[in-house]
Amino acid sequence: MDNNKRPEDMARITTPELAQAFIDEQVAEIKKQVGDKKVLLALSGGVDSSVVAALLIKAIGKQLVCVHVNHGLLRKGEPEQVVEVFRNQMDANLVYVDAVDRFLDKLKDVAEPEKKRKIIGAEFIRVFEEEARKLEGIEFLAQGTIYPDILESDGVKAHHNVGGLPEDLQFSLVEPLKLLFKDEVRVVGKALGLPDSMVYRQPFPGPGLGVRCLGAITRDRLEAVRESDAILREEFAKNGLEGKVWQYFTIVPDFKSVGVKDGKRSFEWPVIIRAVNTRDAMTATVEDVPFSLLQHITDRITKEVAGVNRVCFDLTPKPTGTIEWE
Ligand code: XMP
Repeated sequence: MDNNKRPEDMARITTPELAQAFIDEQVAEIKKQVGDKKVLLALSGGVDSSVVAALLIKAIGKQLVCVHVNHGLLRKGEPEQVVEVFRNQMDANLVYVDAVDRFLDKLKDVAEPEKKRKIIGAEFIRVFEEEARKLEGIEFLAQGTIYPDILESDGVKAHHNVGGLPEDLQFSLVEPLKLLFKDEVRVVGKALGLPDSMVYRQPFPGPGLGVRCLGAITRDRLEAVRESDAILREEFAKNGLEGKVWQYFTIVPDFKSVGVKDGKRSFEWPVIIRAVNTRDAMTATVEDVPFSLLQHITDRITKEVAGVNRVCFDLTPKPTGTIEWE
């Protein structure tokens, strides 16, 4: 039997009862596969790796070692939430790596989008590898591979990037979600007690805010992306758009425009708001965000975010625009 093929008669996991049955089955399966050995997991805080972590914690507790790499390109509050949920609430064995300076130093003066992506991916593997070498007795690597990853690629999750580990660090894989679709992963995550803000989060690219801080990343402009994104998310949540809009975020380009602030001429960055709906990310339409809400968000961003004097709304569908700007 092909282990990477979803059986035709496999029921879609749509209810808490079905999720519980899946969890019970996987817990037994994981215990059998892993025995008393240790398992390593790169825990980004995204839906898939979080659900894998919660499932493995249930199955093998502290035999799971989660490594959370903070590369400085995460959204506001994300690294803190990973520590709170997994270390404080679930009592997980969590290694938190503050790699912010490392990543930002490597990315300094690099403006080309694909180069930025490559640096972020390669540095992630390097940091993860260093952490893996510090640990002893690890025999397994858990991954949040889901069924679309298997259907669309060779089953290695691009944004996890741990597929590039060197020869002597090739662990056996534990991939309990590999036959599930995204909506099923969410139902399982909910049944495992993960917070809604983790289970229903919008898609977030592996290179994170790095591709939304256009051109060469600087710390001040990166903070402008992070702070404006936090305001946008807060306002969308308050106004009932959080679960409705597929993906929404802000972008800060690497140019300035003239404005006036406190009666004085200002020369500062614009923030661009993007809010789109899609089925499969191949095409996308723009969300019709109420004008009054856009005005309120503009008011908050220009008042609260340092270095910003102007806000624009991107009206472009995909095609001709892609969802991200880089
Ligand atoms: P585009 O910009 O190509 O984006 O219309 C389609 C979807 O893919 C996400 N995206 C990425 N995800 N690594 C990722 O893991 C990346 O480098 C990357 N680039 C784009 C994007 O956020 C959107 O959901």
